[in-house]
Amino acid sequence: MSLTVNAGRLRADLQALGEIGRGPDGGISRTAFSAADLQAREWYQSACREAGLTVQVDGIGNMVAGAGGDPAAAAVWSGSHLDTVPSGGAFDGAVGAVAALECVRRIAEEGIGLRRPVRAIVFADEEGNYSPLLGSSALVQGFTAGQLAQMTGRDGDRLTDAIAAAGWDPGRLTATRVSPNAVYAFAELHIEQGPKLEAAGTQIGVVSSIVGLGGAVAEFRGRADHAGTTPMTARQDPMLAAADLIAGLPGIAASVGPAAVATCGRVDAHPGGANVVPDRVSVTLDFRDPDAANLAALSARISARAAEVARAHGVTSVWLPDEQIAPTSLDARMQAMIAEHATSLELSAVSMPSGAGHDAQNMATIAPAGMIFVPSAGGRSHCPEEHTDWADVTNGANVLLNILVELATAGLS
Ligand code: GLV
Ligand code: MN
Ligand code: MN
Repeated sequence: MSLTVNAGRLRADLQALGEIGRGPDGGISRTAFSAADLQAREWYQSACREAGLTVQVDGIGNMVAGAGGDPAAAAVWSGSHLDTVPSGGAFDGAVGAVAALECVRRIAEEGIGLRRPVRAIVFADEEGNYSPLLGSSALVQGFTAGQLAQMTGRDGDRLTDAIAAAGWDPGRLTATRVSPNAVYAFAELHIEQGPKLEAAGTQIGVVSSIVGLGGAVAEFRGRADHAGTTPMTARQDPMLAAADLIAGLPGIAASVGPAAVATCGRVDAHPGGANVVPDRVSVTLDFRDPDAANLAALSARISARAAEVARAHGVTSVWLPDEQIAPTSLDARMQAMIAEHATSLELSAVSMPSGAGHDAQNMATIAPAGMIFVPSAGGRSHCPEEHTDWADVTNGANVLLNILVELATAGLS
């Protein structure tokens, strides 16, 4: 007999959380360590307390909740994130974080005897305001104080200042590494964030692999001048180089392969006056491919193009790359287990890769990791319209509950 979550409680929790950080456009802005993110963390910790769970928070804000158990015994971990992109949706991250908590509550209510504890996790800054998959990267590989001191957010603010403003101790930022022995397996429920499941009428996605992620800032430097009096031929306008680079992104992605994507979601011009030719323009880039060699080619081709357009427009350029996150295959045994439980719950399932990045790709470096996808209405995500039907959220949480129990009892074979 399959176990099921308390669908009403899960929905009520997600709806309560979905009011935190909601703006006038209906979008949710809970960027990492903002007031809204801190409020969401408070909400989560209080839900854990109500369920009798203790929550441990590491130096960078990763939260691990559980009902005790032998701290030395490897535990089954499940969770996701509470932070969002600016003006994002109520389901990205929240579904997996709250469903993991719901599963831990249901396991306690059912009094299921476990061989190893199940822990619910919230990763800090999954959306990478300060660094891609910041919290899970800090957990599995750690950062030095020097690296952390260099990290700045999209508003130019320093991570260490954001941590201090949140009332936390920046001196503890490096206290994050988890021993690989502490994690038996990791499972994450997430919305698909794309159109495939809905279009196929399939209820569950069994994630086979996660795309590789790269990022960089291409900074162009020219000369500030008067917008009315400086002849067009006498300018060193870095905005033209930026525009040229951005316009070339589709061609570069196509030259690398059919799955390659490259995006500029942000341009910053200095000093930022409509009647001033800027002296500095920063182009923030995100590029991805499921294949490691293609990811490297994307990075090389975009950076070469940045240098080329800078020369063509008589400005200079600097390429500031982010740490790359490698493409990741998820554990075959976990994939089989997810597919089997979907079938037992009479849910249709399909194997699929993920084009979005997830903390599971970091967790996969220290433990067997698996991911369950549920459909996204209209394939929309990272926008206020993001939605997943409540029945789909429940389906995904039911699959998660059953695999967590199997992992914590029989285990992987
Ligand atoms: C995470 O949401 C990503 O950017 O893929
Ligand atoms: Mn996201
Ligand atoms: Mn997410």
